[in-house]
Amino acid sequence: MSKNFLTLGIETSCDDTGVAILRNDNEVLCEYLSSQIKDHSKFGGVIPEFAARKHLENLLPLVDVALRDSSLAGRELDLIAVTRGPGLMGSLIVGVQTAKALSQVWDVPLIGVNHLEGHLFAPLVDARDLKPPFLSLIVSGGHTEIIKVNSFGDYELLGQTRDDAAGEAYDKAARILGLSYPGGPEIDRLAKLGNSHAFSFPVPLKGTDKVEFSFSGLKTALLWQVKRLEESGTSIPVNDLCASFQRAVTEALISKVRLAVKLTGIKKVSASGGVSANSALRDALTSDRNFSAWLPELRRCTDNAVMVAMAGRNSFQRGNYSGGEVVADPSLHDL
Ligand code: KG4
Ligand code: ZN
Repeated sequence: MSKNFLTLGIETSCDDTGVAILRNDNEVLCEYLSSQIKDHSKFGGVIPEFAARKHLENLLPLVDVALRDSSLAGRELDLIAVTRGPGLMGSLIVGVQTAKALSQVWDVPLIGVNHLEGHLFAPLVDARDLKPPFLSLIVSGGHTEIIKVNSFGDYELLGQTRDDAAGEAYDKAARILGLSYPGGPEIDRLAKLGNSHAFSFPVPLKGTDKVEFSFSGLKTALLWQVKRLEESGTSIPVNDLCASFQRAVTEALISKVRLAVKLTGIKKVSASGGVSANSALRDALTSDRNFSAWLPELRRCTDNAVMVAMAGRNSFQRGNYSGGEVVADPSLHDL
């Protein structure tokens, strides 16, 4: 491998178009993100076809800017890493087909990356001291799971959500409370102004001895609470509801992280995915004395291309290579 190994990362699995260039293991030369949040928030969620069209508009210009800012030509790259799934089919296709075309034109190897493995790598951008074995809590809009990282490429799913993902629960709770999309950041912001003990929401599956999550009942409990308040003519204490809901989600997550630590004896925990940006969860993880926690920088909790470049580069080093075979797979799951 050349001394300066350059990886172009491309992320288009949902509504963020991400492009990044990585030198060697984790030196970020540049990273760009074109967020469609404003476009989708007026619809209250992501409109898949619209997201795909926006990726089509944004992706190649971002690649151009990334190369220009790094004073690189496409042919100088050593690898292109692209998210191949899970995600929205139309969005994934734009990223994968663009990456394939660039790989052929520039004669640069191509590797398809599992979006979840991307998230798993996000905390590693800044944490060279985090080495396997460690536990990885992935909490995003589509997934909530704890993975045992035996070594890079050797992943063991310890448990996951039975129904909604934590981010999905935040987004649905926000809709119930009349807040904008995406709900997580909004609830996080308003929770800081409220009393987290004002309402006592059930902490799902807290006492079970399995690493598992469930958030749909919690969302329903919030809905009924709001209905009861509305029926009694009381004004809705949105900040208190946000703070109390967030406390329940955080307790559900942290109790299972503790259980996973206890079951495996591994005391190193990383977290990633959009919900790892949540301030209550970050506080709970970093202050827990049962384990040490590694978290990505806030901007790399949500979808980004640096994590895809890192995961792709690591996978390539392990001897994996996709070439022209890479296909978009919206329901790709297991790592
Ligand atoms: O990882 P991500 O960008 O996309 C997926 O792969 O799903 O995660 C997006 C999710 C959304 O559900 C969003 O509401 C949630 O992450 N999120 C948060 C926060 N920031 C983003 N949830 C709670 N607190 C936050 N600060
Ligand atoms: Zn994601």
